[in-house]
Amino acid sequence: MQRLPIATAKRSVGDTVRICGFIETVRKHKRMEFLVVADRSGRIQVAREIPAEEAAGEVHARAFAPGDAVDITGRVVANITVALDGLELVPDSITVAGPAQHGLPINEMSGREALLDWRYLALREPRNRLVFEVATAVEHAMRLHWHEQDFLELHSPKLMHSASESGAETFSLEYFHLGHAYLAQSPQFYKQMAISAGFERVFEIGPVFRAEASFTSRHATEFTSVDVELAWIESHEDVMSWEERWIAFVLQHLHSRYSEAVQREFNTAIRVPSLPFPRLTMEEAHQVLSRRNYAMAANTRRGDIDPGGLHELAQYVEETFGSEFYFLTDYPSSLRPFYHMRYAEAPHLTRSFDLMWKGIEITTGAQREHRYAVLQEQAQKAGLSHSVQYYLDFFKYGCPPHGGFGLGLGRFVMCLLQLENIRDATFLFRGPRRLTP
Ligand code: 4AD
Ligand code: MG
Repeated sequence: MQRLPIATAKRSVGDTVRICGFIETVRKHKRMEFLVVADRSGRIQVAREIPAEEAAGEVHARAFAPGDAVDITGRVVANITVALDGLELVPDSITVAGPAQHGLPINEMSGREALLDWRYLALREPRNRLVFEVATAVEHAMRLHWHEQDFLELHSPKLMHSASESGAETFSLEYFHLGHAYLAQSPQFYKQMAISAGFERVFEIGPVFRAEASFTSRHATEFTSVDVELAWIESHEDVMSWEERWIAFVLQHLHSRYSEAVQREFNTAIRVPSLPFPRLTMEEAHQVLSRRNYAMAANTRRGDIDPGGLHELAQYVEETFGSEFYFLTDYPSSLRPFYHMRYAEAPHLTRSFDLMWKGIEITTGAQREHRYAVLQEQAQKAGLSHSVQYYLDFFKYGCPPHGGFGLGLGRFVMCLLQLENIRDATFLFRGPRRLTP
């Protein structure tokens, strides 16, 4: 008999069906045994009558255990006393295809680290599964928009000859007779190479690596980066207006499919944003913060805004403009990498932006410096000229003005579902203290 998803089987009252899934709970009551069985579509109670010989202890049967992967054939019957939709399955046969050891290593009381240790068991929770259903839909919607607009997808190498963002935060490894290789911190250089190659519009979704000893709820040492690069722009404003339309498209797509489930499971509304998102220059943002008497953390880099300040600004933007999103623009050059274009009339400022959602940075972007001589000088000032010469070469033989951004997929999903921690939005988290499972 063909297997049915449990949700489908539940629409066949009176029929004999075959379902497969995990046993969630086992409960005995007199001569009855009740198993709650779940698969990716839903759950059902299985009500098994314990045979007389088994009840009398004359035959020894292995006891069912939570976690057992079972294959069950039986009849769906209505029973108004059953909490799960007033239905249950009366089994003809139960096969344990994959037995579970008795006593699962995690339960409702387990802490975050134990849940990460046994991640595959924690992921059986329907709420956790929903995170990845939504994440799948997010990526799908992103791709739909790129596809409609003629973008090419890149798969750039993650093994690199030199650091791609800042030298301090790279993982290095031995690489044959070439000495050291570095794990890519970003596809930044290669997506720009695609612009020099004439691709004009490119994106990549792929892993990136940061050797950063950060222990926050937003940082991982390996994460999925969503990168976009656009040619023939006039300024970073073109990149921001492209990005906000793309995000509105993605959230519209999600809103129509997942708003109910997300409201129910995460107590959060998926809001389709109105455009344009508010924009604040860094200078304006500092003025707003000082008007609101916000005191920046002492270790904040000069000119920067700390995480608390970003949340304070989010509150201001929500109160003033009714938006969950805002762009911060025109970062000081001292806070940005050498490849961000500087303003001609104010070289201490970059034509760059970050996008915040619910007070958290989800994107950094900029117009890039595409003029070889200027870029070379900026690399030199950053002390990088030699190691990045191969990158500088991309701009030697004609490159159009261009810009783009990188977005952290885990951060996007975390903000969308209002999750406390990026660990909850990541299939398998990697941090300074975690390399397993
Ligand atoms: O801000 P970042 O470092 O910018 C870049 O990688 C540039 N190459 C982007 C560009 O096109 N100019 O990283 C981009 C985004 C951040 O805004 C954040 O959402 C996410 O990636 N991100 C992290 N996510 C998880 N863990 C970390 N350690 C992250 N670091 C950055
Ligand atoms: Mg950034």
